Amino acid sequence: MRKITLLDLYNHPNVQKYVKRSGMVHAISTAYHAYHLAIKLGVNPDLATKAAFLHDIGHYTWYKNGHWDYDMYKENDIHAIKGAERAHRILVSLGEDRSKAKEIALAILLHTDSYLPEGTLELNPLQKVVALADEKDEEPGGSHHYRTITDLKARTMIKKLDEMVDEYHAEEKIKHSVS
Ligand SMILES: [Fe+2]
Repeated sequence: MRKITLLDLYNHPNVQKYVKRSGMVHAISTAYHAYHLAIKLGVNPDLATKAAFLHDIGHYTWYKNGHWDYDMYKENDIHAIKGAERAHRILVSLGEDRSKAKEIALAILLHTDSYLPEGTLELNPLQKVVALADEKDEEPGGSHHYRTITDLKARTMIKKLDEMVDEYHAEEKIKHSVS
């Protein structure tokens, strides 16, 4: 049994505040992509969906005269660093295992290299899943950050994904007890 669920995260006031800023639809779709990629690549879907759901929680709004200023964003953004710390704090406060909270935070920290000097990152499978899931949901001009959803629909999708993750873990448990 998982200590905390995606719904617990969804209900956290700071998740509501910060994830909505970067787009709840984008967070949920990325979490669904991460689930499918995790199953395909043999990564723990519990960690993958949580990291994907929270991956943009560190975003700040870089607006100038009512418009998103991409240059200002490029120059000043540290959303992956901020997000890793913010997500870690929320996860620990809700009672997540420290080791899982660290793995999730690291996947958030490394989901993009946009804030790093040139160079290549060696990503582990979980980190790769989260980065790929994010890419899958990206739209030109950053419009994936602006899609909207009702609270009811968001909750339904989050609960459904929680069930999918729980089912996967229950099946894995049975497989291991038989083998
Ligand atoms: Fe993203």
